[in-house]
Amino acid sequence: MTATLQINRKRLYQQAKRIQANTNVLAVVKNNAYNIGLNLAFETFYQAGIRAFATTSLIEAIELRKMSENIYIFLMNPSVEFETLRTYNIAMTLPSLTFYQKYKDELEGIEVHLEYKNLLRRSGFDDAEDMRIVLDKTVVNVTGIWTHFAFADEIDSPEYELEKQNWLTLLDEIRASERGFRFIHAQNSASYMRDELFPDHTHARLGILLYGSRPYHELDTNTAPSVITLSTNVIQTLDLKKGESSGYSSAFKAETDCRVAICDIGYGDGVLRTRAKHDAMINGKRYPIGALMMSHMLITVDQDVKSGDTVHLYNDSLRVDEYTHLGVGANSEQMSALNHNSLVKEIIG
Ligand SMILES: Cc1ncc(COP(=O)(O)O)c(C=O)c1O
Repeated sequence: MTATLQINRKRLYQQAKRIQANTNVLAVVKNNAYNIGLNLAFETFYQAGIRAFATTSLIEAIELRKMSENIYIFLMNPSVEFETLRTYNIAMTLPSLTFYQKYKDELEGIEVHLEYKNLLRRSGFDDAEDMRIVLDKTVVNVTGIWTHFAFADEIDSPEYELEKQNWLTLLDEIRASERGFRFIHAQNSASYMRDELFPDHTHARLGILLYGSRPYHELDTNTAPSVITLSTNVIQTLDLKKGESSGYSSAFKAETDCRVAICDIGYGDGVLRTRAKHDAMINGKRYPIGALMMSHMLITVDQDVKSGDTVHLYNDSLRVDEYTHLGVGANSEQMSALNHNSLVKEIIG
C-alpha cells in the first residue's frame, strides 16, 4: 500500500503564526482538527502562539486539556457531564434559555458563553430579552457570547449582511462591550476574510483558513497555502482494446483502444466519488480518472506513464478548495473523508 497523506507542518505553523500575529485566534480543532490530527494541530498552533481552542466533542476537549493546562478550551456543543467539565476546566456554550432553566444549579463553577441562534437556527438563544434573563441573575458564570453565521461562505448571498446586522444589534441591545466578557466571537474563516475582526470582538473562531483552504474561491491561493498532499503509485499499466472492460461490473469500459493505469487508492481511503470525476496528476500531467473502487483507481493514461510512477490527487496545484469550487464537496468534507487508518501518514517540514 503506497497511498500516502502528507501534511506540511511548516505551512500549518506559518499560517497560524501569520493570522495570530494580527488577530487572537480561537482555533477550531473539531473532528480531529479537520482530520489533520488533533495532536499535530494543537502542538503547531500552540507553537504559533494560539492559546484558545474550540471543538464540538467533549472527548476532544478532554484530550486537549491533557495536552496543556495552559490553554482555554471552549466546547461548542452543550454537554450535561458537568463534573467532567469542571474537572478539566472546559468552558461551554449556553445553548438556550431552556437549557439554562433546567441546569442552572448544575452549571456552577463552569464558564459558559451565551449562544445566539440567528439565521443558522441550529441552537442558541432567540433574542436579547432571553439572554437578559440569564445576565440579570448571577447564577451562572457567563464569560462570553457567541454566534455562528450560516451564510458567510456564500459570497453572493444577501443573508450574510442580515445575520451580521442581527448579531451586532443584539450585542448593542445587551451592551455586550460593557459587560466585561472575556470572549466575544462570531466569525469563521469566511466572515473574518470578508470583514476582518468585528469591533469589540476578542477572537476570530477559525477552522479551514488554518488548514490550507480558502473559505471562498474569490480569494488568492496565497491566503491559505495548501497543507496536504495525497498521492499513491501506479501498480501497473494495461492496454485495453475497444469494448474491453476493467473492474467490477465493467466499472470502466474502453471506448477506444487505450492504456490505463491501476493505482492503489480508492474510496476506502477517503477519495470521494465526486473527486474521481476530475483528473489525477502523474509526472506533472493531468489524466482523467476512469473508475474508483474501494482500494483501486483506474486512470486513462498515455505511453509516458509507467508502473511505479507517483499519482497525485491533492497537492499544491490540485487544491482541496479548487475541488470545492468544482462541486466535489465542502473543503471540510473532502478532508474529513480521508482515512487515517488506511493511508500512510507523513508529516513534513
Ligand atoms: C461553530 C463553528 N465555528 C467555527 C467554525 C469554523 O469554520 P471555518 O472552518 O469555516 O473557519 C465551525 C466549522 O464548521 C463551526 O461549526
